[in-house]
Amino acid sequence: MKRQPIVAIDGPSGAGKSTISKLLARRLGFAHIDTGAMYRCVALAALRRGIDAEDEVSLAELSLALRIEFRPVGDEQQVLLDGEDVSGAIRTPEVSLLTSRVSSVSEVRENLVELQRRMGEVGGVVLEGRDIGTVVFPQAQAKFFLTASARERGRRRYLELKGKGLDVDLETTIAEVEARDAADSTRQHSPLAQAPDAVLIDSTGLSIDQVVARMEAVVVARRKMQE
Ligand code: DC
Repeated sequence: MKRQPIVAIDGPSGAGKSTISKLLARRLGFAHIDTGAMYRCVALAALRRGIDAEDEVSLAELSLALRIEFRPVGDEQQVLLDGEDVSGAIRTPEVSLLTSRVSSVSEVRENLVELQRRMGEVGGVVLEGRDIGTVVFPQAQAKFFLTASARERGRRRYLELKGKGLDVDLETTIAEVEARDAADSTRQHSPLAQAPDAVLIDSTGLSIDQVVARMEAVVVARRKMQE
């Protein structure tokens, strides 16, 4: 039997990667690997163990020692850290902040990339992140770079935070998105960059369904080409 494709979805935060990767994986009947959640698990474990954000050696050791898994539950997917469901705990602002630091440590990246390759190499998988098409699986059969204008991504983030009852300001949120973009694209290790052979999708003004349908069409076409 032909091996199922590997689908890579990269792009900046707020472009809709998580929602879209999840829906695309469901439509294709593929597994979904959220690599951002893996970096978040290392940050959460570091916080819990009181490891200093500057202690790169301990962070690298930690990334090797943890057991990170994804478990499908109904239509959703749980993130397990050493067997514990941490799907909610890895999304706090404190963890997000530390994740940014943790993900810039090259040895942490090496260890997690290795794990991501082991999880995805069987195929039939959608991986989302920042470096999937460039570093983790440069040979992926379908690569996408999903983006949206900083304004639009800031607006979505603003609505999300507002929905959680937080007191936020639109212009400040947009400025934060722009600052994060600059940090992600200029960091030393695996900066966010579009793979030359990735299909660029700008989701500004597109519905979630339109984006998913566009991606599905590309994956189906690539599959046919391989047959
Ligand atoms: O996608 P996210 O917001 O859950 O990502 C969390 C952090 O991890 C973010 O700072 C970017 C980083 N990240 C990364 O460096 N490489 C990946 N493949 C995925 C996420």
